[in-house]
Amino acid sequence: MLANKYPLGFFPTPLEKMINLSKKYQDYQLYIKRDDNSGLASGGNKVRKLQYFIYDALSKGFDAIITAGAQQSNHCRQTAASCAKVGLECHLLLGGEKPKRYNGNLLLSQLLGAKINFSGDNRKGEDIKLLKQKLELKGKKVYAVPYGGSNLLGAYGFVDAVKELKGQLLEKNLKMDYIFFASSSGGTQAGLRLGIDLFEVDTKLMPISIDKMGYEDKTLAEAVLELLKEGQKSLRIKKTYSIDDARLIHGYDSEGYGVVTSNEKSSIKELAENEGILLDPVYSGRAFYGMLDHIKSQKIEKGANILFWHTGGLPANFYYSKELM
Ligand SMILES: Cc1ncc(COP(=O)(O)O)c(C=O)c1O
Repeated sequence: MLANKYPLGFFPTPLEKMINLSKKYQDYQLYIKRDDNSGLASGGNKVRKLQYFIYDALSKGFDAIITAGAQQSNHCRQTAASCAKVGLECHLLLGGEKPKRYNGNLLLSQLLGAKINFSGDNRKGEDIKLLKQKLELKGKKVYAVPYGGSNLLGAYGFVDAVKELKGQLLEKNLKMDYIFFASSSGGTQAGLRLGIDLFEVDTKLMPISIDKMGYEDKTLAEAVLELLKEGQKSLRIKKTYSIDDARLIHGYDSEGYGVVTSNEKSSIKELAENEGILLDPVYSGRAFYGMLDHIKSQKIEKGANILFWHTGGLPANFYYSKELM
């Protein structure tokens, strides 16, 4: 199952020590997993999920893909790049109205050849079914990738990622006590949780919630729990999952999705100025802020090894230039 993926990216992504920040916060050893360097038109976490979707779509003879997200969706940009690489038509449903000028991820998705539809308030894939029907009436064979790529197949990308990390940790003779990352549609979180249990990695997941709104009629934790239960069966993991395995860390999401505050700006600058690595203002910047807050307020025991899983998102910095200056 985990082997059924189409090679789209650059893996393994580097695992590096953040040397300067480990000196600054000297009670901790800080590391970073560079999924911002996963390839495909400026990288990101969705490349891992897309390897599974593209394999599935190609092996079943589909000729077009639809997916959905916010106007600055990294997931949609990476889907557009995947489709360009393998010769599938890409249709995107993006929230909001058509802007006068394209910028950031939206501009890149267009350059990558995606056919872009604007879907107003519906930024979480509510209109996928309708568009799929329309395209099918025109004779297309359409594969729908859910919002954020967060179903079990997408989550396999991060089950697989844990295997990759385990190999790197063994090679470097390291153990990570905590893994911080941005969680928004749940697939990354579910995949990491399943992977940690399947490959028996001793670590604590710290999913920083990005979007305080739920998804369909569920909270995000409930959606993650559903994926865990499905994954437990298909991967034959010997564990019974409960909502405690699916919880997120809230509090850094209180301004809402895509609202860039001084928190995100300060964390982007801190990593950029100390390590020469760029975060994004919606996801990884918010998650990195959450990690720094845990460190500064000593919510983590001294001496811990902490990994930040960088999930990408660089192009959105250009869209949010006003907030970041
Ligand atoms: C840069 C970045 N980080 C993290 C996430 C969250 O991943 P997930 O949707 O699997 O929770 C996303 C989702 O779009 C993203 O674009």
